[in-house]
Amino acid sequence: MKLAITGKGGVGKTTLTSLLAYLYAERGNAVLAIDADPSPCLGAALGIPRETLDTLTPIAEMEELIYERTGAQPGTMGGYFKLNPRVDDIPDRFSVKHRGITLLELGAVEKGGSGCICPESVLLKQLVSHILLRRGEVVLLDMYAGVEHLGRATADAVEAMIVVVEPTGRSMATAAQIKSLAADIGLTQLFLVGNKIQTMDERAFVESHSPDLPVLGFLPATLQVQAADREGKAAFDAVPQLAEAARGIAESLAGILHPSA
Ligand SMILES: Nc1ncnc2c1ncn2[C@@H]1O[C@H](COP(=O)(O)OP(=O)(O)OP(=O)(O)O)[C@@H](O)[C@H]1O
Ligand SMILES: [Mg+2]
Repeated sequence: MKLAITGKGGVGKTTLTSLLAYLYAERGNAVLAIDADPSPCLGAALGIPRETLDTLTPIAEMEELIYERTGAQPGTMGGYFKLNPRVDDIPDRFSVKHRGITLLELGAVEKGGSGCICPESVLLKQLVSHILLRRGEVVLLDMYAGVEHLGRATADAVEAMIVVVEPTGRSMATAAQIKSLAADIGLTQLFLVGNKIQTMDERAFVESHSPDLPVLGFLPATLQVQAADREGKAAFDAVPQLAEAARGIAESLAGILHPSA
């Protein structure tokens, strides 16, 4: 299972990714959780201890590694460098493990002009492709709004993309944009999850404003998420109603992707 989680800023992508990571790990799957946010925070959402997270460096910041693999200094453009750097050892060497979940942080790539190819972005793209095409774990990719880390070559390997929305017009508009970006790279299995839901009207809003994407389920709004964050706990452990809602979402997804199972 390879899932990408996306959506407008702040809608709850990281929270949902953390819930699904524990859910699949609890079922005995090896889970590889990839934090593709330029300012990583999936590790904290997973409740991984600070001391452990401090040992982790986002791949994009590993200048020596980038130089060693691509033959070019990060931050440089043009010049010559390898377009297919070796990446197969990266997921195991530069990640941390916690309760059956392997966490990898990609880090921030400076955005150059359009068409910019820099060594760190080449390395990250190659890494994400490798993970999606060659790794056997359940892979969860916590992305920001968009499909930057996915290309045509990997779109097929992503089994489904979950677009998280809040019951707001703006987050629904972002979902529609993501749908069209995804279509451009041939990604067709797209689903919505409504987060921070308080009322039946809000559910109905998400359903009626969906850009024609099936809704897998809803997560209730609860201040317990913030409390869990302050206590350094995973929402999966600290907020049972969210864990339960995430189970429903995983069930709906399994029912659609693998109907006979
Ligand atoms: N179901 C919920 N109820 C209440 N608050 C929530 C819920 N889900 C997420 N939040 C809160 O909303 C904020 C954003 O959540 P989260 O970090 O998961 O979103 P995100 O989409 O990953 O954000 P970003 O775009 O910054 O990566 C956090 O403060 C989180 O605690
Ligand atoms: Mg996030």
